[in-house]
Amino acid sequence: MAGDVVRGRQKVDWARSHMPVLEAIRRRFETEKPFHGLTVSAVLHVEAKTAALALALAAGGADVRLAAGNPLSTDDDAVTVLREEGLETWAEKGESIAQYQAGIRAMLDADPDVIIDDGADLVALVHSTRKDRGKIRGSTEETTTGVIRLRALEKSGALLFPAIAVNDADMKHLFDNRYGTGQSAVEGILYATNLLIAGKVCVVAGYGWSGKGVAARLRGLGGDVVVTEVDPIRALEARFDGFRVMPMLDAAPIADLILTVTGDTRVVREEHFRVLKDGCLLANAGHFDVEVSRKDLEGLAVAHRPVRPHVEEYRFADGRRAYLLGEGRLINLAAGQGHPVEVMDFSFALQALSAEHLAKHGRSMAAKLHAVPVELDRAVALAALPSLGLRIDELTEEQRRYVASWEEGT
Ligand SMILES: NC(=O)c1ccc[n+]([C@@H]2O[C@H](COP(=O)([O-])OP(=O)(O)OC[C@H]3O[C@@H](n4cnc5c(N)ncnc54)[C@H](O)[C@@H]3O)[C@@H](O)[C@H]2O)c1
Repeated sequence: MAGDVVRGRQKVDWARSHMPVLEAIRRRFETEKPFHGLTVSAVLHVEAKTAALALALAAGGADVRLAAGNPLSTDDDAVTVLREEGLETWAEKGESIAQYQAGIRAMLDADPDVIIDDGADLVALVHSTRKDRGKIRGSTEETTTGVIRLRALEKSGALLFPAIAVNDADMKHLFDNRYGTGQSAVEGILYATNLLIAGKVCVVAGYGWSGKGVAARLRGLGGDVVVTEVDPIRALEARFDGFRVMPMLDAAPIADLILTVTGDTRVVREEHFRVLKDGCLLANAGHFDVEVSRKDLEGLAVAHRPVRPHVEEYRFADGRRAYLLGEGRLINLAAGQGHPVEVMDFSFALQALSAEHLAKHGRSMAAKLHAVPVELDRAVALAALPSLGLRIDELTEEQRRYVASWEEGT
């Protein structure tokens, strides 16, 4: 659907006015032009906050091209703004898989110098269709699932260029995954259903950075939160944080809501659907739509119908019903507005600085997975403090010496 440019401008302006760290980087880029003559291809959720990142890169001299990182997460109004600004943008809300793949191919056809990826689909396309890196100086990766894929690529010895794991920076996962997914996944569920969390048994599958955020928010709304895990340490952490922990097979019969956020596949599948409580809501906040098995739902159900936007009812032979939200895709983007603006300020500031790092140093960096340079992580944190009205102490000279020495004890 064609977006509305006035609405789009309002959304982008609102985002930019709440992204002070990225805006400061944009102003520096405008004078320094670190991307002069370079093409940046980005596969991201195309919405207002992403537009702020794209415009910052363009201000730095980049020829920016964007494609959707998910068929359901596009904001058509933001797309209209980007196109009006002259940025080639391949994204339409609800696009077909063929359209989605064509967009990613177009990003590669642009012969990029720098890649910004979310889920590693563009990097995977480079590696499945090419034997050499071409002009590519390197790529940055936004999310946990993409980092897992890059690590596998690196381990197989096939990675063609340096990749920076933006997701693993402290200023990314401590805020974006935990507080961003925590708030926005719940927002997506509420928007899709208009139901009350208080009094519901809410099962959170995966107690990683995102799962911790979601579990805390659901508890804050009065949910009775149960955690499922495969990692014994994370399971203990969830228990010590005050949540019940049990296998999915035990959780499914008591669940009013199941939210997966694992980065894994088929976390909720046929054996769970067979014992699922009647009326259970099923949602996913993990990167790909494979965590709740739609195929198993379709195989087991005797009837299927949409019941309201973002909600599909599956009826089983014994009359029980399950409600799949947002087609099992990232619920915070499919039914909600994505992450809150402020956390994307941190994440996209890191993306902008990591892309600049690759533009400057990518050709001399080893073809492996790199951490975000610690000084960039710290620079984003330092720039973020005043935006929240915060000041912190500095080490005194005496303290600097003390923490640097091994000689001083009791
Ligand atoms: N919705 C969003 O906007 C958003 C934001 C950030 C991350 N993500 C995605 O969310 C997923 C999780 O990210 P994260 O940063 O929390 O990762 P993480 O690695 O910190 O945590 C994942 C957790 O899931 C657990 N897990 C794996 N398989 C499981 C299974 N079968 N059952 C139960 N638990 C299982 C792991 O042990 C781990 O503790 C990834 O796909 C990531 O890309 C989405």
